[in-house]
Amino acid sequence: MNLAIIGTGYVGLTTGTCFAEVGHHVVCVDNDEAKVQALQQGQMPIYEPDLEEMIVANVSAGRLSFTTDLASAVRECEIVFIAVPTPPHEDGSVDLSYIEGVSREIADALTPEIGYRIVVDKSTVPVSTGVKVYQVIERYANKGVDVDVVSNPEFLREGCAVHDLLNPDRIVIGADSQRAMDMMKRVYQPFSAPIVEVDLASAELIKHAANSFLALKISYINAVSAVCEKAGADVELVAMGIGLDKRISRHFLNAGLGYGGSCFPKDVKGFINVSEQLGAPLELLREVERVNKAQLERFLSRIRKKLWVLRKKKIAVWGLAFKQNTDDVRESVAIKLIRRLCEEGARVVAYDPKAAVTGARALEGCNVTIADDMYECVRDAEVLVVATEWKQFAMANLVKVRELMRLPIIFDGRNILHGDNAVHAGFEYHSIGRKTLRPDSE
Ligand code: UDX
Repeated sequence: MNLAIIGTGYVGLTTGTCFAEVGHHVVCVDNDEAKVQALQQGQMPIYEPDLEEMIVANVSAGRLSFTTDLASAVRECEIVFIAVPTPPHEDGSVDLSYIEGVSREIADALTPEIGYRIVVDKSTVPVSTGVKVYQVIERYANKGVDVDVVSNPEFLREGCAVHDLLNPDRIVIGADSQRAMDMMKRVYQPFSAPIVEVDLASAELIKHAANSFLALKISYINAVSAVCEKAGADVELVAMGIGLDKRISRHFLNAGLGYGGSCFPKDVKGFINVSEQLGAPLELLREVERVNKAQLERFLSRIRKKLWVLRKKKIAVWGLAFKQNTDDVRESVAIKLIRRLCEEGARVVAYDPKAAVTGARALEGCNVTIADDMYECVRDAEVLVVATEWKQFAMANLVKVRELMRLPIIFDGRNILHGDNAVHAGFEYHSIGRKTLRPDSE
């Protein structure tokens, strides 16, 4: 099928590429000329495992192309996906101006002669957005155009987006017309996943409700980790014990510094805002946000308690990205942590395998040094903080790290190091929701 994807951000670019990979003809549209030119030359705007190779292969197979010309993409393609940003406003409501702008451009390009078109909302949007998109198209398009609006939310995780897209748990299609539903099902024919066929509003709600539930799960285990610290229990064992119950599952029960990224913080806020506007406020999600903030505060106060004064202390931080396998630092807890340490006068040296450039940009104005190497990062440091769950940190040679550092103290904000290894290497090992381990307590 011929598919157009408007917006070449994380969702648009990876979705378009994976549609091409399964055999569709895909045109990716963006109004950023420089970005489109770079993509045409094979340069990636983001780091995402396997994406670059897949783009190159599909471009050369003639199934994937990039353009700034939205109108011709709408004329050529029977289905047009909107995948533009939906950033949060100050008050937590969702900024839908990009969606509205693109809807108007689509309306301008539609004519009765080109035949039936489906406009699909892929971006995460509040419930009822699809109806508004339809109204915009109806208002601005030529009389007699034949169009349906569908919601088809994306559940990909950054860092494993290609895998998630090609192997989805489920595909959610929200359509109020059978013709649109049937055509959308053809798009997903090459995928072997159950299709959840629902109405437009339910599909929109599924996305907000799913992300908010996952954030709730993370905040739940983080709140439990605070209790574990007081009680001398081990949150990893608690997570295992409850996670083996299939009704609960172990996924997303990793205690840490809290959730970040471009989705969870924004979607929880957006869902709270929508629920309040509808007169059914989700107070529960306010507590999810409170726990998420408190997790970083508790961690910082533990570091403070250990070092007494942070001013002029050399603190090494491993991690800048909001999670592993990405260079994305949006709403990254690692960045927030570094900012706070700098504000208190610490001399921070940070390292991240992929997010050095994006991290340095996000930390502009901060007195922080970005190291090129994870071992150089810890030289003469008085404490090492692990802020992102990269595998290479978990595999670190801790004996070498100990030799390079000034004091043997680790604060593992993601519970990824082996506590026993740290202690054998001579470290005092602090983590989340577990007892502090010391060499003399071996
Ligand atoms: C999320 C959803 O998982 C995805 O389905 C949706 O489409 C977009 O939002 P993403 O933001 O890419 O994906 O990352 P995810 O892997 O969900 O992690 C989000 C944050 O939660 C990260 O900061 C991560 O470190 C944190 N996290 C995740 C935890 O602290 N504990 C966990 O157990 C899982």
